[in-house]
Amino acid sequence: MAYMKTRIAGILAATSLVAGAANAGDVEVLHWWTSGGEAAALNVLKQDLESQGIGWQDMPVAGGGGEQAMTVLRARVTAGNAPTAVQMLGFDILDWAKEGALADLNEIAAQEGWDAVVPEALQAFARHDGKWISAPVNVHSTNWVWANKAVLDANGISVPQTWDEFVAAVEKLAAAGVTPIAQGGQAWQEATVFDAAVMSAGGPEFYKSAFIDLDEGALGSDTMKEAFDRMAFIRANVDENFSGRDWNLATAMVINGEAGFQMMGDWAKGEFLNAGKVPGTDFLCFRFPGTQEQVTFNADQFAMFDQGGMVSKEQAALASAILSPSFQSAFNVVKGSVPARTDVSDEAFDACGKQGMKDLAAAASSGNLFGSMAHGHAAPASVKNAVYDVVTAHFNGEYDSATAVEELVDAVSIAK
Ligand code: GAL
Repeated sequence: MAYMKTRIAGILAATSLVAGAANAGDVEVLHWWTSGGEAAALNVLKQDLESQGIGWQDMPVAGGGGEQAMTVLRARVTAGNAPTAVQMLGFDILDWAKEGALADLNEIAAQEGWDAVVPEALQAFARHDGKWISAPVNVHSTNWVWANKAVLDANGISVPQTWDEFVAAVEKLAAAGVTPIAQGGQAWQEATVFDAAVMSAGGPEFYKSAFIDLDEGALGSDTMKEAFDRMAFIRANVDENFSGRDWNLATAMVINGEAGFQMMGDWAKGEFLNAGKVPGTDFLCFRFPGTQEQVTFNADQFAMFDQGGMVSKEQAALASAILSPSFQSAFNVVKGSVPARTDVSDEAFDACGKQGMKDLAAAASSGNLFGSMAHGHAAPASVKNAVYDVVTAHFNGEYDSATAVEELVDAVSIAK
């Protein structure tokens, strides 16, 4: 935990906690969209609001997965200075709603018919106690692999369909002297890969028992050991400078042909697009081998903080802009995610986006859609952080797989 304390102290020092509340007519938005692709997507939202005469006060807190942003948010709220709107994931939204901190968006939701168009899986996190408490922006999923097409072609590798084929592809790249896997070294990134390792090792029922039901038998099983063994294989095939690396720098390694694969959520696609790369030509997207039928999702939402009474005009405008079908298309095309409404056409989306939309709909109707543990949609933050600690300790060689399984059982049972 020592690393956490140092990191949090650093974040707080670097961030002004006394930034004033939003000026009248403005929204102050706390978010962690700071990479090139993320910033490009965020611009779509800023411009949309500016065209309505609403100013944007930016409150970026770098750090993929949003852990640092949530730390800053807690400090702002404690100081009595909550931002107007906050990017937030899954259980964190419900936790803030339980504290009574979020504004009631029912009026705008009813006017615009959100109930009928937002998928059930998202409503589970966007509503609390009969009230809409956040505006869903997108649906991302974590079980993707991104590949440099030229690197794969040069090494005679076709898209691996199974874990064994993936192992063979990785070994081929290693033998050719190419870094097989681009990986960033932060707990949330390792946990993102672990979502897919667990799904591929055990299948959907296992993922659900272990990560949603937090069943001790599943958490302590041989199948979980196999998931950790898959992580160990991945660890053995990343470059030696991975420690501390940001996710988008790992994506850049695949973009530049320094590495073959990155296992990452579809926000990685935003980086490829931002670099002018084309899916199918320059890069490939495919599901983590063995999870082709499943989707482990996370959805970014903007929760509106209660500013003392009614939802403000600016908050209502922001929520309405986010849910509009044209914004849902324009934003998600750039971000790499797919719309948070079921009635948006896939016309403007590239091949990966079209596949993402199809996969999501198919997974939702076949019972194969599950919340991502790494991104706060499987269990509350206490459990998520416990999983982070074990996964990162194992990835960094502190535990072998058998010990990691034991530690996972203990850590989850204490946290839940
Ligand atoms: C996720 C978030 C994505 C993307 C990613 C990396 O938690 O849902 O929108 O921002 O972190 O920053």
